[in-house]
Amino acid sequence: MKNKTMFYCTACGNELPKWAGQCPACKAWNTIVEQPAESKRRPANSPAGGQRTGVSRPRPIAEVECTTELRFETGMRELDRVLGGGAVQGSLVLVGGAPGIGKSTLMLQICDNLCRFAKVLYVSGEESERQIKLRADRLHVRGEGLYLQAETNLEEVVESVRELNPDVLIVDSIQTLYNGDLSTAPGSIGQVKDCTMALMQLAKGQGVTVFVIGHVNKEGSIAGPKVLEHMVDCVLYFEGEQQNSYRILRAAKNRFGATNEIGVFEMGDSGLREVPNPSEMLLSGRPQDTPGTCVTCVMEGVRPVLAEVQALLAPTSFNVPRRTANGFDFNRTNLLLAVLEKRGGLMVSSCDAYINVIGGLFLDEPAADLAMVIAMASSFRDKPVPGDLAAIGEVGLTGELRSVNALGQRLSEVHRLGFTKCLVPARSGGKVDVPDGLQLIKVRNIREALAALL
Ligand code: TYD
Ligand code: MG
Repeated sequence: MKNKTMFYCTACGNELPKWAGQCPACKAWNTIVEQPAESKRRPANSPAGGQRTGVSRPRPIAEVECTTELRFETGMRELDRVLGGGAVQGSLVLVGGAPGIGKSTLMLQICDNLCRFAKVLYVSGEESERQIKLRADRLHVRGEGLYLQAETNLEEVVESVRELNPDVLIVDSIQTLYNGDLSTAPGSIGQVKDCTMALMQLAKGQGVTVFVIGHVNKEGSIAGPKVLEHMVDCVLYFEGEQQNSYRILRAAKNRFGATNEIGVFEMGDSGLREVPNPSEMLLSGRPQDTPGTCVTCVMEGVRPVLAEVQALLAPTSFNVPRRTANGFDFNRTNLLLAVLEKRGGLMVSSCDAYINVIGGLFLDEPAADLAMVIAMASSFRDKPVPGDLAAIGEVGLTGELRSVNALGQRLSEVHRLGFTKCLVPARSGGKVDVPDGLQLIKVRNIREALAALL
């Protein structure tokens, strides 16, 4: 068969049959690179030339045997939570994050527990064996059952796995791994895809659980575009700001569990420490008696978590006011500003509005609406919201407040962190247990909410 050549855009992953100066999909210039269309390795069960191997045949679903997936705990409860209750044997987990955020540290730290019951192979193309050993010592990682290999050649890694037969394989990072059969450089899209495919075959074929580290580039996607997400079982992103020590781990995809859980860590002198109590962390350093901030409670998976939302509204000096939203949906921000103007009677359309959610959380739950509206109004009127007050509720287009789910759990979290008042929708569905010492302020719409507070 003729070895056909394909071309890829390194910016967006778009495939083209011939070279072009500009990518037709993302319009980037000089990003198209050549890539052999097929590598020597074929995906399992797909023979060349269309002959059938007899391995796979359609089967009635009733005849398919299934045992529930075998899981094991990594020993990091926050990681296990995000994975949906531990790692699934024979799965491939991609751990993405910006360089220096702590991916290698996290992986090395879980080795400490994994080594107790499993054979672990840690392959690194980024650091020497000595460097990893020094770091492992500093992180107090026990050594038995942990094997290190500094290697970047895919074939060597596959061979080592065959020889050593580990239960867990950690690859740091996918961008440094390369397949010598391809002519392109390590880290290019073709290489990254091909190597991931090979690791996937190791996972499925030999039942090795594989953790793959992938650096996220400036645009926020792994290896340029999100080329790997569809191939792997689970995609975790490790996020945080370089200037503060908190890190949030979230699942973008999980074939074996939900994707709405987050894991929270703190980076310290001796590595990552789990933060079982994220609310406290997210509220630390909260300004007192300052306009433009309000606390709410969102559900991250099954956990209620308190979050601080901030708004800065200032008269605009542009024809069209500037608006930015960080940690909150941009369209929802505009919608809430419009509701605030039309139903709350505040002339916010002549204001620039800057929205921020503290601590790297992204609030995609409508329950955060009320707190956002209050933060906006507080900034607009330059009046602070009482420091011991939290607000929970969805805001509708007529300015009405709608009830939210799991209100009881949210209220107990609000109470646990020392808040004494909570603004809630007047008609909250079902019977709700209100903790002693927490005063509920029930409001029907945002006008009532503003009247009660500001
Ligand atoms: P690392 O795990 O190497 O990041 P990644 O693999 O995602 O690129 O983490 C590197 C950063 O973490 C580095 O800036 C130093 C910091 N760090 C600590 O603060 N404490 C520690 O115990 C360790 C191991 C790293
Ligand atoms: Mg690293």
